[in-house]
Amino acid sequence: MEFRVVKNYFEVTSDVLAVPVFEKESTEEGILKELNEATNGTIASLVENREFQGKANETAYIHTASGLKVRRLLLVGLGKKEKFSHNSLREFSATAVRTIKGKQLSSLAFLTRGDVATGLATQATVEGVYLAVFEPGIYKSRDKESGSLKEYLIVASDLAAAEEGLTRGKALGESTNFARELINEPSSNMTPKDMASRAEKVASEVGLEVKILGEESMKALGMGAILGVSQGSAEEAKLIVLKYEHPDFKGEETLALVGKGITFDSGGLSLKTAEGMEKMKYDMAGAAAVMGAMRAVALLKPKARVYGVMACAENMPSGTAIKPGDVLKTMSGRTIEVVNTDAEGRLVLADALVYAKKELGATHLVDVATLTGAVMIAFGSVYAGLMSTDKQMVAELISAGKEAGERLWQLPLDDEYGEQLKSDIADCKNSGGRPAGTITGGYFLKEFAGDTPWAHIDIASTGWNSDKKPYIAKGPTGMAVRTLANWVVTRSR
Ligand code: BES
Ligand code: ZN
Ligand code: ZN
Repeated sequence: MEFRVVKNYFEVTSDVLAVPVFEKESTEEGILKELNEATNGTIASLVENREFQGKANETAYIHTASGLKVRRLLLVGLGKKEKFSHNSLREFSATAVRTIKGKQLSSLAFLTRGDVATGLATQATVEGVYLAVFEPGIYKSRDKESGSLKEYLIVASDLAAAEEGLTRGKALGESTNFARELINEPSSNMTPKDMASRAEKVASEVGLEVKILGEESMKALGMGAILGVSQGSAEEAKLIVLKYEHPDFKGEETLALVGKGITFDSGGLSLKTAEGMEKMKYDMAGAAAVMGAMRAVALLKPKARVYGVMACAENMPSGTAIKPGDVLKTMSGRTIEVVNTDAEGRLVLADALVYAKKELGATHLVDVATLTGAVMIAFGSVYAGLMSTDKQMVAELISAGKEAGERLWQLPLDDEYGEQLKSDIADCKNSGGRPAGTITGGYFLKEFAGDTPWAHIDIASTGWNSDKKPYIAKGPTGMAVRTLANWVVTRSR
């Protein structure tokens, strides 16, 4: 994929020029007027006949643009002007790409508009292209939707700002798709060991330090919770640690991004039902988001010190599996009664959070996990759940998410919720039952983060896209890659 920024749309010689149009926008002023004239009034007539109304992600293809060097115009609706933000541009470019993808065309140009800063507009437009080109059908032997688009042009008034936005958009867009590729793989091709080799590969490509801990090292550290989850599986658990540090970094802060990396969640002996179980290959989406974010951070080079910690294991039922009622001892010494082996994500994260604090000296912890089905009941696939012990981190993460087009909504963590996790035999149990399922999952983790400022993002809602949309394929979304990377970048300023 090749990107370029150019100043004037009338010099563009691409196959198609995508034009963002608001609902009820006049064709008698500004750029729409110019384009309407160049197409002999086609745009105005489409609008008059309600063939195109500018509704969000609506499109109209115009075949002849005699007054222009481009061969075709693609009008793409932005929706209502009052609701416009740079996020509309992410969908704009993504919808354009997916609309013309099946056609034998090789170059596509995007018109950006003056309504948001050029840098951010370009970044969002470029991210949209990456979101749109991803296709999950990698094992199809025919009809692969690869497409012929190769070159993308961004038309922007301020070239220097656009170049900067392009660099950021590429780093974030590519890293999002990097995570989506990991998540999309069947679990048999993305075991904890495979996750570790992907981490080693990406570390050498972008310049990160990497360390992989196997089960023997985990035993030595007393990580009984992740070992307990993994003990029913034929695959060895891996704790993957990536490190980024800017050479001029002099600060005190050590950030840690911690991801749930269950490469397959069968539920263990508390076995899940057959329906939809195939989707549980995406239970490592938190770890994939952390790996993707670390990749983006390495490319964006903020003045910061950041660790990515990925707790990878497979949750399987077998003769060696943990059984309901078993008690596990975590790295902090805190003991857990496992009442439900399907609440395994919080177990692996408990040890990973303690490891990040104790061994890596993390001063701020953010974990990302496909932790609960309940977050889908609460939010559908629109918002991810955010829980935290630190007001500032909440504000920072929500705003980092806004920039990324990833929505987070805070849930409470009052101590009453802790009552549900009391155990008769151990310090706590791993499930509080169905009421407030997402919150009790967060509360459980909070106890392991302790006094260290911590936030938890439950992406079981937004990590997977079940319905086809005009701007994105079904399947993994790469949720949280851009939010986490943006958060690190803002934190370093
Ligand atoms: N990986 C699941 C959460 C999940 C469920 C993600 C459905 C996406 C779709 C997690 O390990 C799990 O099974 N959680 C249990 C927790 C319960 C036993 C307290 C759940 O949500 O039912
Ligand atoms: Zn589970
Ligand atoms: Zn799980």
